[in-house]
Amino acid sequence: MILDIMLGVVAAGSLTALCLVSFKLYIKLTTGICYSQVCLRGKTTIVTGANTGIGYQTAIDFAKRGAKVILACRDETKAREAVSEIIKETNNSNVVYKLVDLTSFTSVRKFANDINSSEERLDILVNNAGAGRLGNKLTEDGIAIVMQTNYFSHFLLTMLLVDLMKKHPSRIVNVSAVGASAGKIDFKKLTSFTTEANQYIVTKLCQILFTIEFARRYKNTNITAYSLHPGVIKTEIFRNLSPIFRWFILFLIDTFFKTAREGAQTQIYCAIENGLEKYSGEHFHDCKMVKRYKSARDPSLAEKLWQESERIVKLRSVEDQI
Ligand SMILES: NC(=O)c1ccc[n+]([C@@H]2O[C@H](COP(=O)([O-])OP(=O)(O)OC[C@H]3O[C@@H](n4cnc5c(N)ncnc54)[C@H](OP(=O)(O)O)[C@@H]3O)[C@@H](O)[C@H]2O)c1
Repeated sequence: MILDIMLGVVAAGSLTALCLVSFKLYIKLTTGICYSQVCLRGKTTIVTGANTGIGYQTAIDFAKRGAKVILACRDETKAREAVSEIIKETNNSNVVYKLVDLTSFTSVRKFANDINSSEERLDILVNNAGAGRLGNKLTEDGIAIVMQTNYFSHFLLTMLLVDLMKKHPSRIVNVSAVGASAGKIDFKKLTSFTTEANQYIVTKLCQILFTIEFARRYKNTNITAYSLHPGVIKTEIFRNLSPIFRWFILFLIDTFFKTAREGAQTQIYCAIENGLEKYSGEHFHDCKMVKRYKSARDPSLAEKLWQESERIVKLRSVEDQI
């Protein structure tokens, strides 16, 4: 009897171990890697939120390829450290940081003005910075903080840099998340706080819809746009979870999912892979184009979001028309 129970426990343990190893193997085998050999010498790139996580890894990759890399960060100490690490690792001294706080439209406008007056070209813009669980605070612009950080500020930044990007073939890469598939936009509550989990996925859906509408509106220009889900990755994005839950999540991710370097691959791919232009507006997972989520298939939703976004960020203000 006891022997039967022991054998049963051993069998169940072995089966569980086999399932876990198979799952890990599946994740590793399906992790998309960007194998492109494209050289970025002479190109200028901006990565928002590049002092850590997948933004940092993206900046390293662009620097290795010879690009000028501008790290768009909010914390000067972290940004300076990241720049010096990247220069040390890549031997590319053309890596700089510029400060931008995505919770403030004034800061975004200042950053964009600086770029427009100091750079002659902009070939790649990766709208990567993001955060979750920021609480129900409003920004100085009166917008729910996660909506402004993840979406509205990137919308504004992109639109302020569009003229510079039009000068040469260029790409916009919007870092979304698979959670966007469960997102639902309530236009009456676009700027106000709803629930924490819902708001994050709505920001990620907005990035996809923005990409679709951008591709439609800028079809006959030099600029193309892509959105993507980078995977489940061990980064600081989980910093605002409770300590025990964070430890548990990071343990799981560390064991089964992606490193930051692996997580950066799809955005690098969207930014540099040759021949992607015809897929402008499309969404990517693991360095492959995927079918749009159901939540992002209605083109009228994308158009409406664009119009609302223009109004909310005051894109057509006198300042922008100068
Ligand atoms: N990690 C995942 O599993 C996962 C999954 C799906 C999607 N994503 C998306 O991937 C992107 C990168 O995230 P990550 O995982 O690399 O996270 P991360 O390590 O936390 O990096 C986020 C970056 O965004 C910056 N940032 C946050 N708020 C900002 C603000 N107000 N102004 C300027 N910069 C700000 C952070 O700067 P500080 O260091 O100064 O805070 C940091 O550089 C995000 O858009 C995220 O939603 C991640």
